[in-house]
Amino acid sequence: MGTVTRGTTNPNRLRRMDRWIAAAHAPALRRAAEPVAVDLGYGAAPWTAVELLGRLRTVAPRARVVGVEIDPARVAAAEPYAREGLTFRHGGFEVPLPGRPLLIRAANVLRQYDESEVAEVWRRLCGRLDPEGLLVEGTCDEIGRRHVWVALGPEGPRTVTFATRLAALERPSDLAERLPKALIHRNVPGEPVHAFLRDFDRAWAAASPYASYGARQRWMRAVRDLAAGGWPVLDGPVRWRQGEVTVSWGALAPVG
Ligand SMILES: C[S@@+](CC[C@H](N)C(=O)[O-])C[C@H]1O[C@@H](n2cnc3c(N)ncnc32)[C@H](O)[C@@H]1O
Repeated sequence: MGTVTRGTTNPNRLRRMDRWIAAAHAPALRRAAEPVAVDLGYGAAPWTAVELLGRLRTVAPRARVVGVEIDPARVAAAEPYAREGLTFRHGGFEVPLPGRPLLIRAANVLRQYDESEVAEVWRRLCGRLDPEGLLVEGTCDEIGRRHVWVALGPEGPRTVTFATRLAALERPSDLAERLPKALIHRNVPGEPVHAFLRDFDRAWAAASPYASYGARQRWMRAVRDLAAGGWPVLDGPVRWRQGEVTVSWGALAPVG
């Protein structure tokens, strides 16, 4: 199910998302009898699937990755990269595996679909997950410096994570252009994601004295202020240090 779209990808592009998944999902992956992860829509070359396997194995040595692509030519091109723990299959949102994966990662896939299609795609993918599974769906720039993703459980969306290379950041709302499809058209006054990015920019500006200690200290200060101001920040300093912040989906979900 779905349509073939542009296959743009790059080595190491999804490192921020991979690291977050490895940290957030390690216990479930380690507990599972069959810790299978799907890299859905890996693109013209299967680098992101190869890297996902490597990063998951650092926290869950029995993890396996199945790369799923809707373009059969891209499946054929990936075959030489198959190895122990890594296979490739032709398919789409139906996720053509016999069992229920512990993880479905779809990066830069829904970006090329209509906003109106997102809810149904999420419902379908969430319906394929293991009861302990996670769907991670989001968007980044070509080399992965700015990245925003939604994490969903079988029941639906849970969190939104913003992750960025701090040295290159002028202001947090620079990430707006990489919002996932469900949010990118909602960055307008009256919508929660717009209010969040506005408050984040204000907190970042107020934290400017911390810039002399480095962009990391400034980011951490700004995130603390966001949390103090009532935004439901769900993670802590260990993640903030990486140029990340995770907030609950409920606070950013579109209202319009
Ligand atoms: C822009 S590439 C992203 C590659 C990689 N995930 C990345 O982030 O670098 C999007 C890929 O998703 C594939 N795709 C689009 N819809 C799909 C679907 N329903 N199921 C599987 N793959 C899909 C496209 O064929 C394309 O190769």
